[in-house]
Amino acid sequence: MSEALWWQTGVIYQIYPRSFADASGDGVGDLAGIEARLDYVVQLGVDAIWLSPIFPSPMADFGYDIADYVGIDPVFGTLDDLDRLVAAAHSRGLKLLLDLVPNHTSDEHPWFVESRRGRDSPRRDWYLWRDARSDGGPPNNWPSFFGGPAWEQDAATGQYYLHLFHRKQPDLNWRNPEVRAAIYDVMRFWLDRGVDGFRLDAYWVLFKDPDYPDEAPPRPLGEGELPVGRYDHPAYEDRAEMQEVVREMRAVTDAFADRVLVGELYLPLARLMTYYGEQLEGLHLPFNFSLVTMRRWDAASVRAVVEAYEAALPPGAWPNWVLGNHDMPRVATRAAVAGAGPAGGRLAHMLLLTLRGTPTCFYADELGLPNGDIPPDRVVDPQAATGRTRDVSRTPMPWDDGPNAGFCPAGVEPWLPIAVPPEGSVARQVGEARSSLALTRALLALRRNSVALRLGTIELLDPAEPDVVAYVRRAGAETTLIALNFGGRDLRLDASSAGDRGTVRCTTALDRDGPVDVAALTLRPYEGVVVTLD
Ligand code: NOJ
Repeated sequence: MSEALWWQTGVIYQIYPRSFADASGDGVGDLAGIEARLDYVVQLGVDAIWLSPIFPSPMADFGYDIADYVGIDPVFGTLDDLDRLVAAAHSRGLKLLLDLVPNHTSDEHPWFVESRRGRDSPRRDWYLWRDARSDGGPPNNWPSFFGGPAWEQDAATGQYYLHLFHRKQPDLNWRNPEVRAAIYDVMRFWLDRGVDGFRLDAYWVLFKDPDYPDEAPPRPLGEGELPVGRYDHPAYEDRAEMQEVVREMRAVTDAFADRVLVGELYLPLARLMTYYGEQLEGLHLPFNFSLVTMRRWDAASVRAVVEAYEAALPPGAWPNWVLGNHDMPRVATRAAVAGAGPAGGRLAHMLLLTLRGTPTCFYADELGLPNGDIPPDRVVDPQAATGRTRDVSRTPMPWDDGPNAGFCPAGVEPWLPIAVPPEGSVARQVGEARSSLALTRALLALRRNSVALRLGTIELLDPAEPDVVAYVRRAGAETTLIALNFGGRDLRLDASSAGDRGTVRCTTALDRDGPVDVAALTLRPYEGVVVTLD
């Protein structure tokens, strides 16, 4: 394969702006803070940053409730700050993606304020209004992802509006061509300003069955199963009409050079793949959440997930892998409790950064940051109503060992409590040759310098050891072997099907390198190694 596009060879780094760096000193991260820390991002070795929403918002869902698609919330800064950040990123060779939220607005968005005024409002049909049932109850039994019914009755008319998320996030009507046109204009507004693309929020639920049928009770969750990535709501998940919107958004994007569309789609693999488009005229990267929704971090699960995803990819479609995000528990916690050992985050990163396809990393995962400890009186996530708070994965970036870990000034209360990784802050890990941060940097550097890791084929080996996941990446004359021990025992692995002799380039503990006999590769408990073959 010849040298490919930036979003194929690059690595995406998700920044949750509230939590990255607070320059203004109000306890909430902001754009100036991100700009001040861009060199850290560059030194990490990623290629693009994706910012969770930064638009004006009442913050009922911390920015995913947008009151103005083409402004910046004062807590984050100004439009000038954003322009400066884009320029600063570009001057360092970094791309910048914004988060586009097309499924819903805030109830304080002028569109909804107008829509709710009355049945004859010109914008009534921009949202999903229905009459009450004859008994006065909600139009159907659909649940909100944040708990309770997905319908809210409005005093002005007695009708209900649909909100699949918070009641302050009314769903837009994607059957209305004016809504589509308005969102496409929003896209052009940011693309014109030089933004390199979008991550599309809640992209699997844009269309609703116009008959609004009651839905069957969901099947019970399997043990350890997360309530995402299932197909439980056929009346509004992945409706056929989506494919037209995918093509339209791609056409809007393609009018600008070199931009990318990434979609948030919690869907079974076969459904997910349709978002590439039959002729690959759809999304560039429909997010692959296999590693995020995986129940066990053991070798069998990892192998199964990689095999299933690779097998499901349509010809020519570019793969991608996500390790964590602001909606899921931290990978260091997930992997450690689910089988990948105490340093599970390390093994998980070696996997992420050596698989075939574009990786997405979540801020602070590179430090091995575990779930934060959020005392009950500090819980702020609206989803906490369902019994699970996402605050644990949104704690501030621990920059140094000073007050508030350098995230915000001393004496200011950060919006969420500070959590510090076992290996310490960024400042501490920068100085440690074998830290998790050093490992992430080493893996990113290796990837940058290896055509096999960036663009090569992948072949899963079938090792005799059930605890091992081993695969070979090949491009041209370069062959790289990756072997990951998901068990707590020392092992000796025969990977001679990949070659005879090799050189260790990286291990999860960063404590050995040099020549190895690939037919007798030793792996310590929970150790991963990257070996280039001679
Ligand atoms: C998915 C986002 O990632 C999540 O944080 C948000 O609450 C919902 N979509 C609603 O926008």
